[in-house]
Amino acid sequence: MNILVMHGPNLNLLGTREPGVYGAVTMDEINAALEAYTAEHGAKVRCFQSNHEGGLIDALHEARGWAQGIIINPGGYTHTSVALRDAISAVALPAIEVHLSNVHAREPFRHTSLIAPVCVGQICGLGWIGYRLALEALLAREEG
Ligand code: DQA
Repeated sequence: MNILVMHGPNLNLLGTREPGVYGAVTMDEINAALEAYTAEHGAKVRCFQSNHEGGLIDALHEARGWAQGIIINPGGYTHTSVALRDAISAVALPAIEVHLSNVHAREPFRHTSLIAPVCVGQICGLGWIGYRLALEALLAREEG
């Protein structure tokens, strides 16, 4: 199974960005942990980050050719992007939305996700481990 891991805007700053909210682990460290986990389970991840809505959408379109699942932290686009939601819906691959922080315990504008309704599930508030849990869930779905 090939999985696309997508990090949205500002997630390239993880490690230094509001560590009290998002933790001290960097995006590269998360990606390395996911690569190690999938290698142990006979799967593959490709990790991608963009600060641009169009870049994320292009990567989703390309994933149709090679991926069987998507893990996405859409960052701030979670709460605003109809276009990103439509792209996930259009590619028709199982997607899991991940947030490091518990968006439901934060400002009201973070309580709404335009992305969640087109995902098979959402994981939030568990820090970087949420990505690994999402991976585990996608692999378990594949195994049936
Ligand atoms: C986030 C939560 C979003 O509300 C925020 O805009 C982010 C990070 C998270 O991982 O907790 O950029 O997606």
